Amino acid sequence: MQSLAYRNSELYFENQPIVGLAGEYGTPLYVYSMPAIEANFQRMQQAFSGHEHLICYAYKANSNPAILKRLAELGAGADVVSLGELKLALQAGVPPEKIVFAGVGKRDDEIEFAVRTGIRALNVESEMEMDVIAEIAQKMGVQARISLRLNPDIDIHGHPYITTGRESDKFGIRLQTARSLMQRIRSMPSLKLVGLHAHIGSQITELAPFVREGEMMRELAGEAQQLGHELEYIDVGGGLGIRYEAAITPAPDSRGEDDLAIEPAEIAQALLSSLAGLGLEVVFEPGRSLVANAGVLLTQVLYLKDAGARQFVVVDAGMTELIRPSLYQAYHAIVPATLRSGTGLCADVVGPICESGDFFARARDLPPVQRGDILAVLSAGAYGFSISSNYNARPRPAELLITSEGVQVVREREAIEAIWS
Ligand code: LLP
Repeated sequence: MQSLAYRNSELYFENQPIVGLAGEYGTPLYVYSMPAIEANFQRMQQAFSGHEHLICYAYKANSNPAILKRLAELGAGADVVSLGELKLALQAGVPPEKIVFAGVGKRDDEIEFAVRTGIRALNVESEMEMDVIAEIAQKMGVQARISLRLNPDIDIHGHPYITTGRESDKFGIRLQTARSLMQRIRSMPSLKLVGLHAHIGSQITELAPFVREGEMMRELAGEAQQLGHELEYIDVGGGLGIRYEAAITPAPDSRGEDDLAIEPAEIAQALLSSLAGLGLEVVFEPGRSLVANAGVLLTQVLYLKDAGARQFVVVDAGMTELIRPSLYQAYHAIVPATLRSGTGLCADVVGPICESGDFFARARDLPPVQRGDILAVLSAGAYGFSISSNYNARPRPAELLITSEGVQVVREREAIEAIWS
């Protein structure tokens, strides 16, 4: 995380001292850097700049309205997967023609709203869904803009829960079926096939799957054009991974590193070398790579516990705030806000939730920590708050955004009463 640095053994995020933020706003606390998100977004724009393109930010990664609004101002479109996210996009000021709507289980009311709003496209995930969209559009007396979400059976070699493009995954349409749907759509007047879509997975750290995806998309798009479909764009999904282990090392005067797993320009080049000849706009849907390394979760050390064979550092945040370690055995770097001298320890960093699966780290080598210390869980800007829950009747944490104007509370800490309102 390039916006993190130790100065005189104190951790700073942008120019804000972490201890100060935790003291003023309490913990658990999410803190995001808007300059970091903007730099990531501009890097994506730059990567695709030689070709007509649209970056549709994947809202599921982090849908804080202040961030969405700023990204919309910068020209980002939106990749949404529910009526809620669709409405968030409209509220953030994203024009309908920059919104794509994916998801295997769209309800009829969601389809109707999306069609009525005139979004860029509903990404169709099955033949039955396509028929339902056609029927709804026909009843409304309009033509629905759709794209087919393809399942190319490409393995990204990642965690099975975030791998989406293998035939055994619930997402997308097998290529053979997609071919027959492309035939059928020609005789369905309430549907207009405007694009093809694929999203093969998340936290992708190799270039090869993107290369294969580009080749597959070129082939299918060519076939669609031959059938007379007037495609407008190819949507290649998101998935660019980050290097969670490269966030920052807890050493005086160390600074966070750049932590994208692959240079966006390399991905753009790999995709565009296949797709450039089609004369179509390219849509990219990054989520994690825009926001993960722009956010930290701050938590306070409550207790140190010596359990003989194991040491535990018990903190006040848990799987309710950040479920990634529990759900995907994901690694997140954890560093103290203040570096102390002395000997460190090897410990599990665990939360207060009544589940043994509630941990941020297992057998992690940590610098010295004491009760009351603030720890920063790094690279937490993506799939952190957005998957948070009220389990154990815990209110959701506050969110802060650091901008050029200073620190803003962009979501108040949830009131306990709101849990049962
Ligand atoms: N487009 C579609 C259709 C998606 O389903 C996703 C993510 C994205 C774009 C954005 O992917 P990204 O660029 O963020 O990799 N909760 C998991 C990740 C789930 C990803 C779901 N789909 C995690 O914390 O790792």
